[in-house]
Amino acid sequence: MIPIIRPWLGQQEAQAAYDAVMSGWVAQGPKVLEFERAFADHLGVAAAVAVSSATTGLHLALYAAGVRAGDEVVCPSLSFIATANAVQYCGATPVFADVDARSQNLTPASIAAVLTAKTRAVLLVHQVGMPADIGAIRGLLPPSVALVEDAACAIGSTYRGALIGRHSPQAVFSFHPRKLVTTGEGGMIALQDPDVAAHLRILRQHGMSLSDVARHQSQTFVLEQYEELGWNYRMTDIQAAIGLVQLGKLPAMVAARRLQADSYRQLLCHRQDLLLPEDPPWGTTNYQSYCIKLLNPRVDRNKVLQRLMDRQIGAKRGIMAAHLEKTYAKQRHASLPETEIWTHRSLVLPMFHDITLAQQQTVATALEQSLIEG
Ligand SMILES: Cc1ncc(COP(=O)(O)O)c(C=O)c1O
Repeated sequence: MIPIIRPWLGQQEAQAAYDAVMSGWVAQGPKVLEFERAFADHLGVAAAVAVSSATTGLHLALYAAGVRAGDEVVCPSLSFIATANAVQYCGATPVFADVDARSQNLTPASIAAVLTAKTRAVLLVHQVGMPADIGAIRGLLPPSVALVEDAACAIGSTYRGALIGRHSPQAVFSFHPRKLVTTGEGGMIALQDPDVAAHLRILRQHGMSLSDVARHQSQTFVLEQYEELGWNYRMTDIQAAIGLVQLGKLPAMVAARRLQADSYRQLLCHRQDLLLPEDPPWGTTNYQSYCIKLLNPRVDRNKVLQRLMDRQIGAKRGIMAAHLEKTYAKQRHASLPETEIWTHRSLVLPMFHDITLAQQQTVATALEQSLIEG
């Protein structure tokens, strides 16, 4: 079986986790602080706040952007359901905008079509790591509308020469094993304002005014306070220790994937019936997933997936569409033709740090055979 993904984890991560356990700090402690600092330095942002997942990070980032009950937040339906769910956690309504036929991302035109007086924020997803046109989108938003980036998949992708995470007040990353950098579960909010970061650190731990590290370091007796409602969205030191090792591997991970994407392109570019992913004019993708679109509407994508599975290829459907799921089925939305084409006709091919050219050739051959039968 050629798997869809294989996290790049090894002895170094195992040792880091062991050391964290032996240190006695198994919940949020000094390693989380160290990971936050390293992440912020890597991106070149003022601060980073570690959380238990990108989902909880999105909730906090939207909250920090002022999203509350009664507000509308524009986001794609074509995304993992956590994107829309995070909006609902704030009591707000996700308003779905359509995506681009090439990139799977929101566009200035699709966002402009659904903006209303109630729009409080745009939650911009860089789908499967493909950078959206952040500058053009920010340019059309009135000052009252915040831009929050769902960069769950986009660690190591760039926009206009700078890493994703540097372009708006808050961008949220995921460390789920399907992403390039993993801590098992986990997430990080990249921020430009250290005061907002300090506030989010309080909110992620029950609204508690003092962190455990600060309390342990204090030479005098201190009492914490709870001035507002918070949540338990903490990352553990065991996860942060693994994350520090993983972060060091990120440049090699991105470089490997970009070479592998070149190989898939060479193997499949003769197929007029496939749309292959490629960098947009304004940035570079990390190829978090190698997601292709079947352009022939007569081909049944699900049959192709079954045929690939029969051939021991771990391909998967592309991105889901939230408005087609029961949770969001009753919600009013604009027509979303490109979203529906993408969700019904896309699939993800195997890609991971040490997939070999021979394995990629096997995948490409299996895909071509499956397309004939599909
Ligand atoms: C675009 C997007 N947003 C949010 C999430 C949620 O990430 P997490 O699993 O870290 O909560 C994902 C996960 O796949 C995602 O792809």
